[in-house]
Amino acid sequence: MKKAICPGSFDPVTNGHLDIIRRAAATFDHVIVTILHNPRKAPLFTVEERLEMLRECTADLPNVSVESAQGLLVEYAREVGAQAIVKGLRPIQDFEYEWQMGLVNMLLNDKIETYFLMSRSEYSYLSSSIVRELASLQGKLENLVPPGIEERLRKKFAPKS
Ligand code: PNS
Repeated sequence: MKKAICPGSFDPVTNGHLDIIRRAAATFDHVIVTILHNPRKAPLFTVEERLEMLRECTADLPNVSVESAQGLLVEYAREVGAQAIVKGLRPIQDFEYEWQMGLVNMLLNDKIETYFLMSRSEYSYLSSSIVRELASLQGKLENLVPPGIEERLRKKFAPKS
C-alpha cells in the first residue's frame, strides 16, 4: 500500500491545494492531508477550523483522510507508515524554500521520498496568503477557493457592527 502525506498550513485550503490533493490521490493508494505548524506563519484559522474545511472539501475522495500533527513532518510520516511526501510546486516563488525543505527532510529520513507536482498554470499565482488578503479587502474569491471556504472567509472578515 503506497501511502503519501500532503502536508501544509492550509490557511485556508485553496483550489490549487485541492488540485494537488486530487492528483496525489490518483497516484497513491492513500493520501493523508496533514496540517502542520509552519513557524514562519501566524495562522488566521484554528487547526480545528482548517481540519473541518479540508474534510468538507475532500469528502468525495475515498482514499483521502485529513489529520493534524505536531513536530517534524518526516517523524509523522514514519509514524503513520507513509513512504512519500507530496507538495505542489509553483513557478519560481516556491522553488528555493521547497528545495531546502525537501533536502532537510531527506537528511532526516532518506527512506521518505518527496514528490513535487507542478501546479497547474491556472493556479500558479494562487496562494492562501493572496486569498486572505483579497478576503480582508472584500475582493472576489470566485474560482480561487470552494464556495464553503469563501463563506468562512467572509465571516472572518465581516465588518464589525
Ligand atoms: O503550506 P506551507 O506553510 O508551505 O507548509 C509548510 C509545512 C507546514 C509543511 C512545513 O513548515 C513543515 O513541514 N512543518 C513541520 C516541521 C518540519 O518538519 N519542518 C521541516 C524541517 S525543519
